[in-house]
Amino acid sequence: MPPDKSSRYDLSVFRNGKMLARLIGIGIIVGCSAVAFAAVAGWLSPDKLTPASFVDGFQQANGVHPGFRRNHAKGVCIAGNFASNGQGVRLSKSVIFQPGIVPVVGRFALAGGMPMMADGPKAVRSMALSFRPANGEEWRTGMNDIPVFPFPTPADFYGQMQAAMPDPATGKPDPAKMKAFVDSHPKTAQAMKAIGAKPFSSGFADASYNSLDAFRFVNKAGTVMPVRWTMAAVDPFVAQSAEQPQTGDKNYLFDALAARLKQGPVQWHLIVTIGQADDPTNDATVAWPDDREKVDVGTLTIDRIASEAKDNCRDINFDPLVLPSGIEASDDPLLSARSAVYSRSFTRRAGEDKTPSAVQIDNTAKEP
Ligand code: HEM
Repeated sequence: MPPDKSSRYDLSVFRNGKMLARLIGIGIIVGCSAVAFAAVAGWLSPDKLTPASFVDGFQQANGVHPGFRRNHAKGVCIAGNFASNGQGVRLSKSVIFQPGIVPVVGRFALAGGMPMMADGPKAVRSMALSFRPANGEEWRTGMNDIPVFPFPTPADFYGQMQAAMPDPATGKPDPAKMKAFVDSHPKTAQAMKAIGAKPFSSGFADASYNSLDAFRFVNKAGTVMPVRWTMAAVDPFVAQSAEQPQTGDKNYLFDALAARLKQGPVQWHLIVTIGQADDPTNDATVAWPDDREKVDVGTLTIDRIASEAKDNCRDINFDPLVLPSGIEASDDPLLSARSAVYSRSFTRRAGEDKTPSAVQIDNTAKEP
């Protein structure tokens, strides 16, 4: 009997052995993809560290502050430009290093997941930037004002966060647990020493900010070189006192920045350090030797500041793997973890109603 063509599905295809084999093949591929997806998402191994569990860890440590970044939560938006002097052309083919001016938007912040925390002498400061050249490529980078990162791997960062979790009995971290973590992680102990040995600057404007992670620059000839970079302050460095200022101003660092910008633009030199073959690119706890070649590739000028708000830096994810052609990731294991965790933090905060940020700028300057 001829097949019933009135039926929506013509079952005769299943009589064709080849077609059946193909469908089984597709089924296996889809099944394997689903298993791989579940594995990556951590559904098959609940103890595995995943982007979601990392963000949960930040939330456990700091509480949930809807709409705010899960780390570097307290911040302010900035804007300006980058003037390339052309010295970077031999290092990277990125259009950003062609002589000329590129608009930049960014954010200054304090490390930590508490959006209303008081500014203090021990807070690590950060500068995040998005370079926006005319060809539509983008370079996003987040830098901190410490010389090295305290953890070589995402697992160590997470482990330290767990060790520093407030004890339910006291509401404070257990010093014994924190000591045990440092004692069993010599790289962290070494990095903390280096961080402690460097004085902090008095403000955001006289601080220099480091990429900490290594990247790779690729030039037009295809030469690949390991690099790290620093935004080196033009404002003279003034060391900050270790004491908490008694002004009662919880935002004294941000307020000083806004006051400084009222006097005029603030500048930094972008200094690229070129690593040598033996310099580790997969361990942000280790500084490269001081004598490595350093190239000043241009000047960052920040001339605008504004409170976080819809459609400004509040809504940017400064993912360190948003890179233009000519800049590539290194083998540093922190980079892919950062990208994945920032994305999860961004997805959570973007879906939440946010209360106003701690830093409210009297917007006499033009907003970014
Ligand atoms: C596994 C390691 C790390 C994890 C899990 C992590 C986690 C995070 C998270 C969740 C955010 C908030 C993202 C958002 O919601 O937009 C953030 C912000 C930031 N992180 Fe990391 N981080 C790591 C390593 C680093 C390193 C090595 C640096 C080096 C400089 C860094 C610099 C920054 C900066 C500058 C910001 C603020 C960006 C902004 O202002 O939006 N982080 N981090």
